[in-house]
Amino acid sequence: MKKTENQMLVIFGASGDLTARKLIPAIFNLYVARQLPENFVVLGASRSDLSDEQFRNRVVYESPYLKEKIEDLKENYIQGFADRIFYEDLGGTYDTEYTGLRKRVEALKEEFDTSGNIIYYLSTPPTLYETIAQNLADAGLNTQNNGWKRLIVEKPFGYSLETARNLNNGLHQYFDEPQIYRIDHYLGKETVQNLLVTRFSNSIFEPLWNRNYIRHVEITNAESVGVEKRGGYYDKSGALRDMFQNHLLQIVSLIVMEPPIGDQPEEIRNEKVKALKSLRIMEDEETLWNHTIRAQYVASEINGQKVKGYREEDGVDPNSTTETYAAIKFYVDNWRWHGVPFYVRTAKRMPTKVTEVVIHFKTPHHQIFKDSGVNSKDNKLVIRIQPDEGILMKFGVKVPGQGFKVERANLDFYYSSLAQTYVMEAYERLLLDAMQGDATLYARADEVEAAWEFVDPILDYWKNGKDVRMYGYAAGVWGPENADELIDDLGYWRNPGQDLADDPGYCVIC
Ligand code: BG6
Repeated sequence: MKKTENQMLVIFGASGDLTARKLIPAIFNLYVARQLPENFVVLGASRSDLSDEQFRNRVVYESPYLKEKIEDLKENYIQGFADRIFYEDLGGTYDTEYTGLRKRVEALKEEFDTSGNIIYYLSTPPTLYETIAQNLADAGLNTQNNGWKRLIVEKPFGYSLETARNLNNGLHQYFDEPQIYRIDHYLGKETVQNLLVTRFSNSIFEPLWNRNYIRHVEITNAESVGVEKRGGYYDKSGALRDMFQNHLLQIVSLIVMEPPIGDQPEEIRNEKVKALKSLRIMEDEETLWNHTIRAQYVASEINGQKVKGYREEDGVDPNSTTETYAAIKFYVDNWRWHGVPFYVRTAKRMPTKVTEVVIHFKTPHHQIFKDSGVNSKDNKLVIRIQPDEGILMKFGVKVPGQGFKVERANLDFYYSSLAQTYVMEAYERLLLDAMQGDATLYARADEVEAAWEFVDPILDYWKNGKDVRMYGYAAGVWGPENADELIDDLGYWRNPGQDLADDPGYCVIC
């Protein structure tokens, strides 16, 4: 186990939902796993007027997100955790000077001997990131002469290429790039990290991982929920910004990248950037028309329950043209992937919640058995990111009897079969990495910009293009019919079920 140095975690936006829902439970898991350093405190900071006690009640004692975890634990054990959590009211605004905050940080540092190492976690609206970084610098809270300082930044990182660049430049005035950790919680998922291991620690996959053997790559990210209570945020964002630019392009980069020299953060991140830069940017309207589809869910009934359409959701403009479904076809311009189409889709209000990658292998060059063949019969490698995490290989076997009839069989691995292994939650893993100064699973400035460079023209086309369509799909189905046209020449999307081995077309109807 790597040693974690003594330190303090300062969370900006601490009275917000993310802190109670994800961050404190992640730190609590680290506490239980004895992964926290000996001298460690959390200081929540935000604009709400709360005392330490009130904050502890909110994020620990009365938190619905910790309820199950703490119910069977001894009181003094829980208190041992809660007593490390403090709160500082910043007043009405984040744009204030941080002398009070500095005093509090100094006092906690002295009292708990946390040694001047500090992580600042920015869980505020993105418009405040630069302001907070500047205020920290003005108060001398970014200097590294008495312990390191790191900045974790939540998504969204920018709204477009230009805003992401501006944000990078803004933050770089006060923090150096190695101090900045841009979080993408998909990289904290074991199954996403396992993409690297599947590819680079098995000699059976990597030799086939190229245009000679792969016909196309399909990625589905489906959620059954709608926009929930986040209509206001989502309506300004949409599926492409919310999921595709970050989480899905991160997955794409791990599939596309060349083998890194080793497992050092910069070696991996250099290859990921190269991969993102090799995505063919779609610039002409014809390509954008043919290769992109956007849609919105409309009111429907799911399991007998009426479900609102997107435009009826709270916080959403009734005339909104924000997409809740995005499907994109694209190519990768490099030696390995020349001519191989990638199909990636993400959406809300689908029949089920599932994220998976499907590598579709080509039909054998010379077919001896007439039953093997395109689509249903070709080899597929299904990498299930969530749920029912695992890997499924579809391959041909002979049907017993006369002749050579070929049928598909499954070879599967499930994470759940690793009964003894504790799988860390994404935020837990990522926080621990940042505490130990390991940025492998965080996005670098150039990585984020390369992703925006690919996404920007699509957003621009959707906003300003001629004859751009917004399709509708009934809440609870696999998107608009037209989405199949994107993948037409190769068959159909694999509409996965809850279980990894469910065959396409499966959906839960009761
Ligand atoms: C977030 C998006 O980044 O990821 C949400 O903002 C989305 O809209 C969520 O619901 C999905 O995360 P997960 O881990 O549940 O797939």
